[in-house]
Amino acid sequence: MNTRIFNIDETNIDINIIKEAGTIIAGGGLVAFPTETVYGLGGDALNAMSSKKIYAAKGRPSDNPLIVHIARKEDLPFVAKNISDKAERLIAEFWPGPLTMIFEKTDVVPMETTGGLNTVAVRFPSDRVAQEFIKASGGFVAAPSANISGKPSPTSGKYVIQDMDSRIDMILCGSDAVIGLESTIVDMTVEPPMILRPGYITREMLECVVGNVDIDKTLISSDSQDKPKAPGMKYRHYAPQGELKVVEGKTESVITYINEHLETDRKAGKRTGVISVEENTDRYNADVVKNAGSSDNIEEVAHRLFDILRSFDDEKVDIIYSESFDSDGVGSAVMNRLLKAAGHNIIRL
Ligand code: TXA
Ligand code: MG
Repeated sequence: MNTRIFNIDETNIDINIIKEAGTIIAGGGLVAFPTETVYGLGGDALNAMSSKKIYAAKGRPSDNPLIVHIARKEDLPFVAKNISDKAERLIAEFWPGPLTMIFEKTDVVPMETTGGLNTVAVRFPSDRVAQEFIKASGGFVAAPSANISGKPSPTSGKYVIQDMDSRIDMILCGSDAVIGLESTIVDMTVEPPMILRPGYITREMLECVVGNVDIDKTLISSDSQDKPKAPGMKYRHYAPQGELKVVEGKTESVITYINEHLETDRKAGKRTGVISVEENTDRYNADVVKNAGSSDNIEEVAHRLFDILRSFDDEKVDIIYSESFDSDGVGSAVMNRLLKAAGHNIIRL
């Protein structure tokens, strides 16, 4: 398939390109588009065939439901039922923005979009290109992250092109994702509401608006036997091609441990990499050392993480050691993605 690729300037959106993208979606095709979290791979959420095509383009298991993206709050009741007072309060506070909520679905949403579930995940992104594209597409765009299943979610157009060129009809390349991690997902069909995927909107921020919020226990304990409640969270994700290990402990011990192992790995002929906070980057003897940002700015780490994981593939790194991050606030989303990328390969010193 010939994929048409367009650069879109957020400050001067070419409405003709957006219209064309909308026509592709209405005709059952697929278009990748920027959002503030990560790039999405969009299809018509109300068309079962489009959702099937999305699974095929990503190589994604079809029991893993898609998020329905809207661009007007008033469109929510068309796809979702029993919208609670708490949900209304979260909408007022966080939409448009990086928060996805799960509701009971209405009959217009096909089971192909929800992976066979009676619930639907809905998000209203704040990115302007995304909003114009969703409106031009009829208002309801099903979109997973625009990566091949298992790879890190794309935070810039160049990664979407790497994964999706010749698999979909069009790619809209906007600016790099400002947040860089996927949205927080909250299940509003249970009481209290439950976080199924941590993100930029933290538990504390949600609790300020609606009181007590639970978190799916399987997300914080790697030993749990239970399956995560968001089907997508059970798959190994975000993984670079090289082997990734997370090392946790006091700073000095972590640096010593990693340097000792880098030495051994290099003798064995491996190309090595490290993910480090800015303060420590000079202290590692790896082939590639990536600066994840300052240790007191976890938002920066969140913003850079997927880009760093992807760049190790470009640089053909065989083994990667990462420092561990404080899991308060947005740190819980960072550690959730990092540990998944590492297949829970964590070394505690
Ligand atoms: O930030 C984001 O959310 C990005 C951008 C493109 O909007 N999208 C995204 O989609 O991350 P995806 O498909 O990569 O992740 C969606 C997650 C999966 O883990 C899926 O299992 C879960 O949402 N999910 C979707 N619908 C659900 C439902 N009805 N019940 C439980 N989990 C659901
Ligand atoms: Mg994804």
